[in-house]
Amino acid sequence: MQARGTGFASSEDESMGIDFTINGRAVTSNAPPATPLLWVIREELKLTGTKFGCGAGLCGACMVHIDGERQYSCQTPISDMPRKSVTTIEGLSANGPHPVQKAWLAEQVPQCGYCQSGQIMSAADLLKHNPMPTRDQIVQHMSTNLCRCGTYQRIVRAIERAAREG
Ligand code: FES
Ligand code: FES
Repeated sequence: MQARGTGFASSEDESMGIDFTINGRAVTSNAPPATPLLWVIREELKLTGTKFGCGAGLCGACMVHIDGERQYSCQTPISDMPRKSVTTIEGLSANGPHPVQKAWLAEQVPQCGYCQSGQIMSAADLLKHNPMPTRDQIVQHMSTNLCRCGTYQRIVRAIERAAREG
């Protein structure tokens, strides 16, 4: 993975690479086509806020936004990424904390914290599409994300707070 214009990749590498943007930055990956996006994010770009949990689309720890929609980055091959735009937890809000992050702090949601970036990315996706979800809609939407520490009730409260307070 090279940030464009750094001069570290040869022109041959660049021509074979996969171009996309991450948190507004244009990048090129030379990873093999089947490489999961999660690996590229963590191992090449060193954006370690996105976590590896199950690697099988079952836990949501790896959740990112691709072209504005949440996706499991462990289930997305880098070959799917040309010209796509990725947002990770590090880029969720360029201008201070996102309303979901503020609500997370107010409700003191995290315990060990491992699942939390994925939870926040899913919650932000929910409120973007449904700014005032019911409790049932929150539970349904967030069922993609597991928390071994059992912070589910605080997660629901934080999403309700974010919806209220924006
Ligand atoms: S690591 Fe991707 S869903 Fe669990
Ligand atoms: S806070 Fe520990 S796994 Fe969710």
